[in-house]
Amino acid sequence: MEKKKIDWENIGFSYMQTDKRYVSDFKDGKWDDGTLVDDANITMNECAGVLQYAQTVFEGMKAYTTEDGRIVTFRPDLNAARMVESAKRLEMPVFPEDRFIDAVVRTVKANAAYVPPYGSGATLYIRPYMFGVNPVIGVKPADEYQFRVFTTPVGPYFKGGAKPITICVSDFDRAAPRGTGHIKAGLNYAMSLHAIMTAHRNGFDENMYLDSATRTKVEETGGANFIFIAKDNKVVTPHSGTILPSITRRSIMYVAEHYLGLEVEERDVYFDEVKDFAECGLCGTAAVISPVGKVVDHGKEICFPSGMEKMGPVTQKLYDTLTGIQMGQIEAPEGWIKVIE
Ligand code: PLP
Ligand code: COI
Repeated sequence: MEKKKIDWENIGFSYMQTDKRYVSDFKDGKWDDGTLVDDANITMNECAGVLQYAQTVFEGMKAYTTEDGRIVTFRPDLNAARMVESAKRLEMPVFPEDRFIDAVVRTVKANAAYVPPYGSGATLYIRPYMFGVNPVIGVKPADEYQFRVFTTPVGPYFKGGAKPITICVSDFDRAAPRGTGHIKAGLNYAMSLHAIMTAHRNGFDENMYLDSATRTKVEETGGANFIFIAKDNKVVTPHSGTILPSITRRSIMYVAEHYLGLEVEERDVYFDEVKDFAECGLCGTAAVISPVGKVVDHGKEICFPSGMEKMGPVTQKLYDTLTGIQMGQIEAPEGWIKVIE
């Protein structure tokens, strides 16, 4: 299979249409068999549940080319399981987990020419999603849904690549206690758009959200969880029921403990203690591990000792080990890598 002629090294995190996408419809209480289609556009009723009441959930994952030329994905079973939780919370039908993985495999295979080559720094982003399609005008769940998967080649989420970013403490809240912060629903991202644009207008790359109940604890950003490295090299990550349970973060904590022999801690992280950490990073499928050099809280700056030029040493080790596993240079724990072809 011949790869597309794309300037892989210089692509950003944006949408590029690829050849095929997977579609399955839910009607009369059941999912149809699903198929790959060419048309990237969707036609639906003006009163569709997704358009009126934002009934939509999604996932984000990546396909990688390994050093020996295989195409693989990373822990798709966890994305499938998380989408089940998201769907249930929005009263949507569950798309079966085995079918989710099959849909991802078929879509990636059909777009293999767009999977960036090993070493290019780019990957194929995979976006499974589901939404209510039939008309609903009273506030209630739709009866008909569509599950789709598309792919798009992407480069680094933050423009500078591995350069540390500057983030600010947001005045907005991302998630309410007992709300929807722990699921991947479009509504969480719609309500974050004003906050991220405000951060950008003020010269920051991202927001640090605090817990909305007390505004004393670190939660996450709009699209990634936090990891902090303490001065004794312990890897610390916020524990919270209102953040998205990042698959990248869970993997990093395992890698830190079992591959690098580091102590790990998932616990409440108070904003007051952020100044005492040695390193800070954002982790997620899109963010991979993006180093944070500075956190600004209404003019008060916290500058991590790792600085603004490069990742801190422990973050770098975590990054190298995680991406080494994803790209097949380092042996993965059992079940983490799904070979596509
Ligand atoms: N937190 C939020 C709000 C996200 O949108 C994402 C992206 O998926 C993450 C965290 C990271 O999760 P994952 O590592 O599973 O991609
Ligand atoms: C991902 O990392 O997959 C996400 O969904 C985050 C999004 C902000 C791009």
